[in-house]
Amino acid sequence: MMTFNSPNSIRIVAIGGSVRPGNFTSKTLALAVDELRTKHQGVEVEWFDPAKSDLPLPGTGTSSGLDALKQSVTEATGVILATPEYHGSYSSVIKLVIDNLGFPSVLSGKPVALMGVAAGQIGAIKALEHLRSVCSHVGAIVLPGPVSVPGVGQLFDDQGKCNDEATEKRIRKLSTTLIDYIHNHICPKIALEEMVRNQSS
Ligand SMILES: Cc1cc2nc3c(=O)[nH]c(=O)nc-3n(C[C@H](O)[C@H](O)[C@H](O)COP(=O)(O)O)c2cc1C
Repeated sequence: MMTFNSPNSIRIVAIGGSVRPGNFTSKTLALAVDELRTKHQGVEVEWFDPAKSDLPLPGTGTSSGLDALKQSVTEATGVILATPEYHGSYSSVIKLVIDNLGFPSVLSGKPVALMGVAAGQIGAIKALEHLRSVCSHVGAIVLPGPVSVPGVGQLFDDQGKCNDEATEKRIRKLSTTLIDYIHNHICPKIALEEMVRNQSS
């Protein structure tokens, strides 16, 4: 079961939208997660892998995996959604995740950073446009600067190491953008509320 340990840390849930064995969405997401874990102190990361979960079809009941996912997203300060480009859109796995996050959605009000990967050279533009639209619809704060990764099949060696420095930099920057947004727009608000509460008590 996924849970965050420290209530005071910045908590990020990273969700990958491919369940294909050896998928490239996870390899790409791993870079963004590594950036969070190694470069940002006080940040806790939960990686939700739908392949290892028992998410039900939307509206058909609940499961331990669903309860854990909802709890993690509810407790999260921010979310990273990584999707493959499948048939000119984002994957059904990502839609399964979003549809399982409730109506109204626990994504509402959460800063969400988007990443899309594609085999083709056009990249994951359409997947990201569609995903942005749905995330906005459920009330998420979709951050500007989504990362689209074209030609992802050629990007990694057998050990999962990225062989394109510029692309790796763009992917890692997504994590920094999310944390910067949280520092600039979420954390100060919490601190201010606390200050006002303390003054009036
Ligand atoms: C069902 C399906 C549909 C796909 N459609 C597209 C597509 O429209 N455009 C594209 O560039 N690649 C497409 N691909 C290739 C994926 O982008 C490629 O597998 C890439 O590695 C990302 O997916 P992955 O995370 O599952 O590896 C498709 C792959 C699958 C399995």
